[in-house]
Amino acid sequence: MIPKETIDTIFETARIEEVVGDFVTLKKRGANMLGNCPFHDEKTPSFTVSPTKNIYKCFGCGKGGHAVNFVMEIDQLSYPEALKYIAKKYNIEVPEEEQTPEQIEKSNLRESLFIVNSFANDYFQNNLHKTVEGKAIGLSYFKERGLSEEMINKFQLGYNPDSWDAFTKSALEASYKKEFLEKTGLSIFKEDKAFDRFKGRIIFPIHSISGRILGFGGRALKKEEKAKYLNSPESEIYHKGQVLYGMYFSKSAIVKNDNCLIVEGYTDVISMHQSGINNVVASSGTALGSEQIKLIGRYTKNITLLFDSDNAGINAATKAIDLIHVESMTVKVALLPEGEDPDSYSKKFGGEGLTQFINENAQDFVEFKINLLDEKSKNDPIKKVNLISEIMQSIAKIPDGITREVYIDKCSKLLEIGKQELDNKVHELIHIGKAAKKVQREVVKKVEDTSALTKSPTKSEFQEKDVIRFMLQYGDYQIKPYDEQEKNIEEDKIYITQYILIEFKDENLFSNPNYALIYKIYEEAISQGTLLTEEYFTQHKDPVISQVAVDIISNQHSISEKWKKHGIYTETEEMQLKKAVDTAIYSLKIAKISELIETKNIELSKGDNDDINLLVEINNMLKIKREISEKLGRIVLK
Ligand code: CTP
Ligand code: MN
Repeated sequence: MIPKETIDTIFETARIEEVVGDFVTLKKRGANMLGNCPFHDEKTPSFTVSPTKNIYKCFGCGKGGHAVNFVMEIDQLSYPEALKYIAKKYNIEVPEEEQTPEQIEKSNLRESLFIVNSFANDYFQNNLHKTVEGKAIGLSYFKERGLSEEMINKFQLGYNPDSWDAFTKSALEASYKKEFLEKTGLSIFKEDKAFDRFKGRIIFPIHSISGRILGFGGRALKKEEKAKYLNSPESEIYHKGQVLYGMYFSKSAIVKNDNCLIVEGYTDVISMHQSGINNVVASSGTALGSEQIKLIGRYTKNITLLFDSDNAGINAATKAIDLIHVESMTVKVALLPEGEDPDSYSKKFGGEGLTQFINENAQDFVEFKINLLDEKSKNDPIKKVNLISEIMQSIAKIPDGITREVYIDKCSKLLEIGKQELDNKVHELIHIGKAAKKVQREVVKKVEDTSALTKSPTKSEFQEKDVIRFMLQYGDYQIKPYDEQEKNIEEDKIYITQYILIEFKDENLFSNPNYALIYKIYEEAISQGTLLTEEYFTQHKDPVISQVAVDIISNQHSISEKWKKHGIYTETEEMQLKKAVDTAIYSLKIAKISELIETKNIELSKGDNDDINLLVEINNMLKIKREISEKLGRIVLK
């Protein structure tokens, strides 16, 4: 448990734009900041951060909340983990409280895996730095390869002793459960025996974008080991296709450089950091996938592939190019001189040497592919035709027409082929692609249609939301509570929150549990003489409440903000506000009674109830509905 005072400090200190800014590139837009939403796919930004309200909201996918919500959402953190992350960012001390066995028991599977990984990470590092074997074998290997103490610590490198179960034994002794050791892949259990997966290997922990340990890579030190690298298996917390090695350490430099370098290996990333190049990640053990490219897309739209010049490197680059184009990002390729990788090159020529090499040798993809043609098949017409077709296919994947034109132009010049021919070919390919997509969309839609039938949202949800919105946005405005037909105008104004509570008497009509909860909180606060503000809810400690509150107030069709700005308002404005609140209140009442009537009608049609009584009931309800509708009509017409 984190003490309440610390939580308060964290909430008071966290600036939404600073917290979000570590994960999303934001641009100033009036009073707000705008970026591409990290939670859904979008090409035009609708992800909005409001520094004044200290909240974020995406108008594309609807996600919204305060800084703590954001961190929870972006890296799937639990509430306490998100708090700790922000505390760390702002150097707020969180008193360390040992977890009780009951608390550990309560942690869910994901949390348990993170806890085990964190223990393992400490264990491996401790082994590297503090044990005779670790120092003699692991640390000396790193030193031999020229890795600095600083980098070893920064990347939290470690060592797993060279005995069957050294790690597993320690973990079990420290009462970490077998189940979680197995699920993280740190240990392998066979019959009655336990084995360390990373026996005798140096360890590269793999961090999430907020710095938690998702898994590990282990490099063998002995030549006779079959696999040079072993990696943690896929687990509840480690999805290889979504992770890039080094992202946690490189993301700010990627934003600053507006470019992301992609290399092949762990050691490449670390060596480049050591030589001062910090905007670099590796796909580590898997072919680069579209999830990984999208992840980079949060920080920059420009990628430079820095691969070996062997066949594996060329093939990897060729595949990556198309995936990058589909995401509307730009890509350049720099192939290193034969026999070199970024690690060896930066050791030989330093960061400046490597940067210079990249600047001089990075080719756009057309140059890259045409150069391949020159190398391999200058005089082979079939190969030439194939390659041209390949290039056209790549161009057809670029969503932006102008960019396509630029590349077609370039191709036409370099290959001395008529521009029109190339243009036609590309259009033909785009056409084929679109037809295929259409079929795909239709299939998806069919599936969605069937699943939509299974869930039925209540009809009144919109009206419920509108009433809560008035409480949140205008709850602290005062109006005169008189009815339009009453002549005796009361002098005392009351708050809109009170007004709404009175209108609904003691009935909590809300079927959406979140709205019902917010309503109840208002009710209780008022009964204790407190009027809660919008901020109370948007910055609420319960992430669900804040998210719902932000969602409601961010509704784009909310009534004019002019009252809020001036703080005072004229009599006509007050009338308008009252009219708007009344409309919301009566609309909800009508929706509710309509729902009731509908259920009663269904009952009636089943005929297994006392029909006369039901009919009377329905009639009464219809009468009430008519009355409210008339009232609403008068308000709207006024
Ligand atoms: N890799 C892997 N499994 C293997 C071989 C490689 O997962 N059996 C991944 C590792 O992430 C590795 C990367 O592919 O970092 C590149 O492989 P390689 O170039 O062989 O390794 P380096 O990182 O260059 O390692 P070192 O310099 O220590 O040989
Ligand atoms: Mn290497």
